[in-house]
Amino acid sequence: MKRNNQDNINNAEILGRVLFPSEKIQRKVNELGRKITSDYKGKELLIVCILRGAVIFLTDLIRNIDLPLSIDFMSISSYGFNIPDSGLVKITKDLDENIEGRHVLIVEDIIDTGLTLSYLIRNLKAREPESIEICTLIDRAVRRITDLNIKYCAFNIEEKYVVGYGLDYKQKYRNLESIYELKTDTIKKDIESLKSSLNK
Ligand code: IMP
Ligand code: MG
Repeated sequence: MKRNNQDNINNAEILGRVLFPSEKIQRKVNELGRKITSDYKGKELLIVCILRGAVIFLTDLIRNIDLPLSIDFMSISSYGFNIPDSGLVKITKDLDENIEGRHVLIVEDIIDTGLTLSYLIRNLKAREPESIEICTLIDRAVRRITDLNIKYCAFNIEEKYVVGYGLDYKQKYRNLESIYELKTDTIKKDIESLKSSLNK
């Protein structure tokens, strides 16, 4: 269903090609939902959504899961070089639910270096859930620098930066229904203007 015209408005200079059109995303999300439903049959799930990027994915995914489930949210801020042990990954909004003895499924938008999620997994495992797994919309494994076991993944991509369907560039484009590549020029221009403002 086409809900808006956002995908066509004013974005020609910034957005590159469509990587994953919304119909394809919906098909994949449905497939993942069915797989999760059969894997967790007879169990109750607690789905932990990582704010803010995974929100759109979460709302579609849970409507494709036919199980008793709860949702909770967590927000993490990471700084440029987010080395987990240096305390540079910070939980800015913690869970409201107690996860001890529960089946936890983390829903994330994109896993890049893996630093954010490996910090999070360690933190959550210390709270003694019965099980903990990861479900990500996108896996960009080429930049991975930690060991992560990703049980559910909708799409794999290479180097490109992507936006849409929850994913942002400077907090925008989350409302696009499809997933787009960002034009390399856009990022380059921003880096140049950042550099020149630092040199002033
Ligand atoms: P990492 O796995 O710790 O390197 O960080 C992953 C986080 O960086 C994701 O949760 C996103 O918030 C953000 N991120 C990485 N790549 C992209 C992208 O291509 N588009 C939008 N956000 C991204
Ligand atoms: Mg994120």
